[in-house]
Amino acid sequence: MIRESLLKNPKFGYIKLKLTNRCNLDCSMCGIPRNYQREMDTKQLKLLIDEVKSMNGVRMHTTGGEPTIRDDLIELIKYSTKKGLPFDIQTNGTLITREYAKKLLDAGLAKVAITLQGPKDIDEILRGKGSYDKTVGAIKYLVKNKIPEIGLVAAITKVNFRHLNALIKFVHGLGIENIAFQPYFRTRYAPEALESLLIKGKDVEILEAEIEKMIKTANDLDINIGNEIYLRTISDYFRKEYFKNNTATYPDKDCLFPFKCCVVYCNGDVYPCYKMTRKEDYIGNVIETPLSKLWVSEKFYKARESIREGNCPGCLLSCYAKKH
Ligand SMILES: C[S@@+](CC[C@H](N)C(=O)[O-])C[C@H]1O[C@@H](n2cnc3c(N)ncnc32)[C@H](O)[C@@H]1O
Ligand code: SF4
Ligand code: SF4
Repeated sequence: MIRESLLKNPKFGYIKLKLTNRCNLDCSMCGIPRNYQREMDTKQLKLLIDEVKSMNGVRMHTTGGEPTIRDDLIELIKYSTKKGLPFDIQTNGTLITREYAKKLLDAGLAKVAITLQGPKDIDEILRGKGSYDKTVGAIKYLVKNKIPEIGLVAAITKVNFRHLNALIKFVHGLGIENIAFQPYFRTRYAPEALESLLIKGKDVEILEAEIEKMIKTANDLDINIGNEIYLRTISDYFRKEYFKNNTATYPDKDCLFPFKCCVVYCNGDVYPCYKMTRKEDYIGNVIETPLSKLWVSEKFYKARESIREGNCPGCLLSCYAKKH
């Protein structure tokens, strides 16, 4: 069980910031709401960076929507880096041209996680025509510019799970040594995708074997694809998911995510984690209340206490991987 002392004194480290809900792609599994929320402007985001720094935060993790769609991304990276807060982005990569990759480097980008879902025909089923070539191009530009850390992210769905071993080999050839896999989770916004994306029945056994192949390939090539316990949990997750026929859950009572960070949406709303985003989970808004106050607020304390007592809804997001 999570220590009482951590409940009383959660150690803030970073935020997961959704810079925008906007995106240039329309991936079939995506859970980003299509009704675009108001976005914090550059000034508000700089104030948030200041606040993270004043709370002894160690990093800015940003995602979206698609962060590269924001005109001020380079300015924000520069600002944060100058303040001593390394800035990361999670991106689909399709807007990263040769020139933009150089700008990212010059601004001081610390890390990029870029999404690709498999070989061209498979990737384009999930992300749409034209996405693959642009993302592969972006990976080459980023590698050429020697961005300090470049990782790949792939979802695991019925469409691409037989192609992930080949993806590991392919991106290794491009110079990538870190890959994270995110098993498909149901979303409120793309329920129609469920049947075509969920791995069920006999396919789960094939997935189990595929994951063993992926672990072996990663070991042979000396690539980091994450914790093996986490990876071996994935087939079980799909089994339960299928029989539950409910929302995507993987119960876990000891998740440390809300004890070290929180999720900030593009409009400034704060939630304990990506999964706890119902009305009753809402902690506050950083435009109205400084994050440092929200972090130690009664609401956040109660959310953490409830998670510690086993009321965490559960998920198989990367926080789960990091726990093991
Ligand atoms: C929401 S996107 C935001 C950043 C950027 N637009 C991108 O695509 O990388 C972040 C990651 O979430 C993954 N993702 C989106 N919806 C998902 C779902 N329902 N299940 C699993 N992964 C999902 C995407 O594959 C992507 O790697
Ligand atoms: S690129 Fe990212 S944000 Fe955009 S639709 Fe795809 S998964 Fe969603
Ligand atoms: S829902 Fe997921 S991220 Fe949230 S507290 Fe539970 S395990 Fe952690």
